Amino acid sequence: MDFQLTERQKEFINVVKEFAEKEVAPIAEEIDRNYRFPEELVGRMAELGIMGVAFPKEYGGMGLDYISYAYMLEEICSVSPAVGTISAAHNSLCCWPIYHFGTEEQKMKYLPDLLKGKKIGAFGLTEPNAGSDAAGQQTRAYEDNGYYVLDGAKCFITNGGYADVFVVMAMTDKSKGNHGISAFIVEKGDPGFSIGKTEDKMGIHASSTTELIFTNCRIPKDRLLGNEGEGFKVAMQTLDGGRIGVAAQALGVASGAFKVTKEYIKTGTRYGMSLAKSQYIQFQMADMATKIRAARLLILEAAERKDKDLPMGLNSSMAKLFAAETAMEMATKGMNIIGDTGCVSGSPIERFFRDAKITEIYEGTSEIQKIVISSKVLKD
Ligand code: CAA
Repeated sequence: MDFQLTERQKEFINVVKEFAEKEVAPIAEEIDRNYRFPEELVGRMAELGIMGVAFPKEYGGMGLDYISYAYMLEEICSVSPAVGTISAAHNSLCCWPIYHFGTEEQKMKYLPDLLKGKKIGAFGLTEPNAGSDAAGQQTRAYEDNGYYVLDGAKCFITNGGYADVFVVMAMTDKSKGNHGISAFIVEKGDPGFSIGKTEDKMGIHASSTTELIFTNCRIPKDRLLGNEGEGFKVAMQTLDGGRIGVAAQALGVASGAFKVTKEYIKTGTRYGMSLAKSQYIQFQMADMATKIRAARLLILEAAERKDKDLPMGLNSSMAKLFAAETAMEMATKGMNIIGDTGCVSGSPIERFFRDAKITEIYEGTSEIQKIVISSKVLKD
């Protein structure tokens, strides 16, 4: 592992850091309080290349890599995990499967607008009865006169209410189990496709999470992504990379929670003594700083393997598991140290506390990561 950053990576990360500090942080509390999807920030992320970080320039991307992508998400999520998740779902879950599994025509049709942030992407896998059991897809698709017709519904779809392009999994042949699932590209405005309920969530309020409804939704046959029956593989490989993004998001939550806790400790007093002089507090800070560093190293290892095209499902699951647990721990410890003022709605630690939990859930719960990790570890 060699995590020395190139000048180009450093330059990009500095631009993102400045964007996070100067443009995201000042409105982070307001967009959370008002459950407001920050379209103006999506426009700025597009200008800065954040909507197409690790994709080649020939398709409109930044021509960077997953290491830069991970740092980018950490920086943004350290001030607003909700804003980070908009970019993560777009990059990892929509752009990547189109880039990796798409035909040249599909790539040229969709990627330039997506990677330039003119369009927003989303990923439709989860259903009410197919969350952790992703193979249990009930949305079905069948061929009809040069079209596929989709019927069913998806839930908890990040970016759902604002996305233009959706990568959607549906069952084309139930008798074949996971080999009967296929992936499709669905566009906003396709006949029979609509957005259902918007979720009122505990955290990441400024991101959009909705149902997707397919009622005799007709899409041209050339919207099949990959081969028929390969949809489960498309979904699993997409999630292998997506979990690096969620891990980086969790690391951002952990770093953000650590930062506000440290600021409180540096200025706070108890019983007339500076909090920073308490050895109990010092030990807490030492544990927190060490876990944050360990999470970052796991993420960078997974990102580096992805950049080198090496198998990294084990690494991304370990990174997500550890980083998400670290996010929860940092937010909880921070809340305990800050105490009553931290519990007030709108305080930064209260927001991080609410935003941390989802990182243990989406793109595979911590238990799913343990299934992936143990199945690979036991194979050796
Ligand atoms: N890459 C490629 N192929 C893979 C794979 C991977 N990472 N993982 C599994 N496969 C293949 C296997 O090789 C196997 O192939 P064969 O049938 O040819 O042998 C096939 O897929 C089935 O594998 P499993 O038997 O291991 O599958 P399973 O049904 O037991 O499920 C699982 C495995 C890991 C539990 C999987 O279902 C899973 O990851 N579940 C969690 C789903 C998830 O993360 N959902 C998040 C939704 S997206 C989201 O949250 C974003 C949002 O917008 C909110």
